[in-house]
Amino acid sequence: MEATPLLTPYKMGEFNLAHRVVLAPVTRCRSYGNLAQPHNTLFYAQRAAPGVLLIAEASAVSETATAYPHVPGLWSQEHVEAWKPVVDAVHAKGALFLCQIWHTGIVTPTEFGPPKLKAEEIPQMVNDFRVAARNAIKAGFDGVEIHAANGFLINQFWFFMDIGKADSRPVYRDQLIEDGADDGGSSLENRCRFATDVVAAVADEVGTHRVGVRLSPFAEYVDCTDNDLHLIRFMDKLGVLYCHVVEPRMSADGEDGKLAIPHRLLPFRKAFRGTFIVNGGYDRDEGDKVVSEGYADLVSYGRLFLANPDLPERFRRNAGLNKYDRSTFYTSDPVVGYTDYPFLEQEIGVAN
Ligand SMILES: Cc1cc2nc3c(=O)[nH]c(=O)nc-3n(C[C@H](O)[C@H](O)[C@H](O)COP(=O)(O)O)c2cc1C
Repeated sequence: MEATPLLTPYKMGEFNLAHRVVLAPVTRCRSYGNLAQPHNTLFYAQRAAPGVLLIAEASAVSETATAYPHVPGLWSQEHVEAWKPVVDAVHAKGALFLCQIWHTGIVTPTEFGPPKLKAEEIPQMVNDFRVAARNAIKAGFDGVEIHAANGFLINQFWFFMDIGKADSRPVYRDQLIEDGADDGGSSLENRCRFATDVVAAVADEVGTHRVGVRLSPFAEYVDCTDNDLHLIRFMDKLGVLYCHVVEPRMSADGEDGKLAIPHRLLPFRKAFRGTFIVNGGYDRDEGDKVVSEGYADLVSYGRLFLANPDLPERFRRNAGLNKYDRSTFYTSDPVVGYTDYPFLEQEIGVAN
């Protein structure tokens, strides 16, 4: 059977990928005490296979970065030790494994904040990303993905959070002006400075060949695409390994009731010479289409991959898919809705 475009091999930097199907980072809130657990090992090992790229769920860069319960951390040696068996299991199956690193910023609950960030604290926060990246490599990960998407800390330096208000401002703007640190974000460079500082620090720590960045230029908070474009140009100049971009919000008016993907990422694709990964609402056909058209090099899958541990194989056989159960996305059960999604063989076995 001839491989469809999505299932053709791809070389990303020094890594040889067997196909273009990637596991998107999916937070599952099952790392008790911020430590990776044996059931996390099973979850990732189930999805590992030779030459597949898995991106681990967002891991907090500091204690103040953990807005949600039971998310893994990467700020101490204890976290490194907890991640090691997970990474080893994934590598033993021949997969490539990167870890997403994040700071939730103002989303962090009140016992830790929300951080009323002072300008003098910013270098420490940049350093937290650097240390987390170093720890990811110590744990054995092949690289890190900086989470600069979905409204978390990095975006909070550039998003206008009070949508609809004429005087809406980036979250930290007033404080930064008060501190005399800069113009508080009225220039593109200053709005993006935290992001570019983080990317530069992480790249300096682990090497550009091991750094990817995730962006969501059309997140519903606000369209701030000039910031994303500025950051992408910076990443391009630096030679960052990949750019992982979440599509604009999908609309439900596609044919046959299918979600229509707006495909507005071309300007970003054109601004970046490294590997370009797209995400958001893709299925097999849509993935094939964008790879064959050169719109993307790789396509990441969140909900479909979490519900189908053997997603690439199912795509290869054009087999049916398990449906994801939204109600168990963020529950802390170590099995239910987590490691109990059946493989194709199990399903066929049951059917027979
Ligand atoms: C349960 C769940 C957890 C998620 N956790 C993360 C995360 O840790 N980091 C991130 O960047 N995006 C996260 N996302 C967003 C996904 O990576 C992805 O962008 C989204 O699911 C859309 O892709 P899909 O249509 O293939 O599912 C999460 C999504 C889901 C459903």
